[in-house]
Amino acid sequence: MPESPAPLRIAVLGAGTVGSQVIRLLHDQHDDFAARSGVAISVEKVLVRDPGAPRDVPIDPALLTTDPVEAIDGMDIVIELIGGIEPARSHVLRALEQGISVITGNKALLAAHGPELYNAAAASGADLYYEAAVAGAIPVVYGLRESLAGDRITRIMGVVNGTTNFILDAMSAQGLSYEEALARAQELGYAEADPSADVDGLDAAAKCSILASLAFHSRVGLDDVAVEGIASITAEDIAEAAFFNRTIKLLAIAERRIGEDGAEGVAMRVHPALLPLDHPLASVDGAFNAILVEGEAAGRLMFYGQGAGGAPTASAVLSDLVAAAHHRAYGGHAPRESVYARLPILDPGIARTRYQIRLQVEDRLGVLSDVAGIFARHGVSIHSVHQRDDKEPGACVIVATTHLAREADLRAVTRALGQSPAVREVASAIRVEGE
Ligand code: HSE
Repeated sequence: MPESPAPLRIAVLGAGTVGSQVIRLLHDQHDDFAARSGVAISVEKVLVRDPGAPRDVPIDPALLTTDPVEAIDGMDIVIELIGGIEPARSHVLRALEQGISVITGNKALLAAHGPELYNAAAASGADLYYEAAVAGAIPVVYGLRESLAGDRITRIMGVVNGTTNFILDAMSAQGLSYEEALARAQELGYAEADPSADVDGLDAAAKCSILASLAFHSRVGLDDVAVEGIASITAEDIAEAAFFNRTIKLLAIAERRIGEDGAEGVAMRVHPALLPLDHPLASVDGAFNAILVEGEAAGRLMFYGQGAGGAPTASAVLSDLVAAAHHRAYGGHAPRESVYARLPILDPGIARTRYQIRLQVEDRLGVLSDVAGIFARHGVSIHSVHQRDDKEPGACVIVATTHLAREADLRAVTRALGQSPAVREVASAIRVEGE
């Protein structure tokens, strides 16, 4: 083992919110990083689109380049913080194929091309680290990949998208409509001008698939996740949730389940759900994230913290950097892809969940029995029913919560309710979790 290994050459690809914080922290805490890694770390290149663009943090202009070859070739470690698939994928592969270790915060890239990146890293002996790709500062990738590697994980349920959590929280706390809350999130910089990746659930689905592949030692991708976003959630849904001491969260759920053929598989879904207020995920507010992991031996674990933002996400990048730098200087490598279990992906339609269905119905004799009959005819068992007067004359509101039901059966119920003369409107059908 050399006494003083040569300083490691680092490139940072992307100097946006996270990249600039990584560069700042590496500069300000240079000696600490050297002590923790056992080797000095030197940022040699920063790949940017526009060297003249204003930056959150001053960066030595001599480090800036727009040429990926100049930024990547000859480095020891490349930190990819560009996001998106291309050109990030080409840059990461270029580095890995040269044996350069890569740290990335790119969930879309991992969810779409994880196996390709893992293979390139294994072939050249490079490390591939990605703590920052899921839930910002929260060490849940490390938790699943290393701390819980000895356990059999049965279920993961998380609030993994801060933008949607902020929007739902603003609707709940301030009585805003979805559109008003989205506009507020955009004003404050939580939501992008094009918010679709967040509000349609795709960002959460990418994170869900990354966590599921680690937890269940199986290859799963973004397309294997059944996704529903939050755009259909109304102020009335939020008020109704509060009436029943519940809140609405966009949940990412990945679990082991027995499929219809009797074999175990993985089911993954992202959708808004009602949670009782005393559930551990119900109190995750604003742009925070939390992930509840259930292991057979460990029981329940809760990971909570800041899921986005420059410095919190930089913290995750830098923890990966300490590990990758130590390996580079002294040997060893990051865990390789673990897919030995090869669990099949289950059709999310077979998942059995509880639902709360809110209806506006005619206020007349026998309407409750008509409604209950529709549930019964489709094999969906009602757990509880609440009825009250509606604002509209001659109408009342029925809120029915079901026992566990197959999604396909629930869809049949809502279709039939929509066609029933007793029902004026099926206002919402929202899953209930955690009860
Ligand atoms: N857009 C994400 C969120 C952060 O709102 O949580 C980065 O994944």
